[in-house]
Amino acid sequence: MWKKDSGDVQLKNIDMKRIPRHLAIIMDGNGRWAQQKGLPRSVGHRAGVEALREVVRGSDELGIKYLTVYAFSTENWKRPQSEIGILMSLLKEYIRKELAELHANNVKICIFGQEEDIPKDVLKAYNEACEKTKNNTGLVLNVALNYGSRIEILKAVKEVAQEVQSGALNVQQITEEIFEKHLYTKDCPDPELLVRTSGEMRLSNYLLWQAAYSEIVIVNECWPDFNRALLFETIRIFQNRERRFGGVKEG
Ligand code: IPE
Ligand code: IPE
Ligand code: MG
Repeated sequence: MWKKDSGDVQLKNIDMKRIPRHLAIIMDGNGRWAQQKGLPRSVGHRAGVEALREVVRGSDELGIKYLTVYAFSTENWKRPQSEIGILMSLLKEYIRKELAELHANNVKICIFGQEEDIPKDVLKAYNEACEKTKNNTGLVLNVALNYGSRIEILKAVKEVAQEVQSGALNVQQITEEIFEKHLYTKDCPDPELLVRTSGEMRLSNYLLWQAAYSEIVIVNECWPDFNRALLFETIRIFQNRERRFGGVKEG
């Protein structure tokens, strides 16, 4: 079993029968966390990896089935080369160090993103992790790495168009279900809950299709301060929301 940290008090407030199946997280605020302490942004990114470890464990403990974390966006290439280098090496280090424990805990690792532009060594580490854990049946950890929702949607559009062009499909047959089979999330339900840290209230090109009816919880703490207790608190907030999907409340 995973080692437990803070959060036992918050755990008592959670209805274990209504845990979201799919939790998506925008891990934001590493840079600001460090800068507030007078430290370089890289220190924030390193601390962010620690938070990720704790949240993966906490999610598994709750019985969340799919956890999708935004690790690097298609827009993050705009950052200084030095910061990109640090982020990539931390992402590689994370998977290299955690793989054995993740595998031992039955976690299945997947990557969502434009693989061709990910540095070869980083991609290799993730591909190996995916391969090693592909038959695991526990928590599915989707790492959104070089991920951008618009590119994901365009990729799906092109694949569907190709099927139409080849005659395998006609235009009238295109449904939401068929379209979704071309997204990275083809094997997951839509996230019921989307959490963003650091107080920012935007999606930043994350899961634009899939989050159509996600409950969004914005946490003021920066990502390195996110922990088991805050994870449990966001689940409690989610459980207090009324999800209507365009309908009206019954009774
Ligand atoms: C999240 O923290 C990590 C990535 C986006 C890769 P940031 O680096 O965006 O930190 P802030 O938002 O600048 O504080
Ligand atoms: C979103 O955060 C991407 C990740 C967390 C990987 P950003 O920090 O890149 O988003 P913006 O620029 O504030 O919208
Ligand atoms: Mg940010």
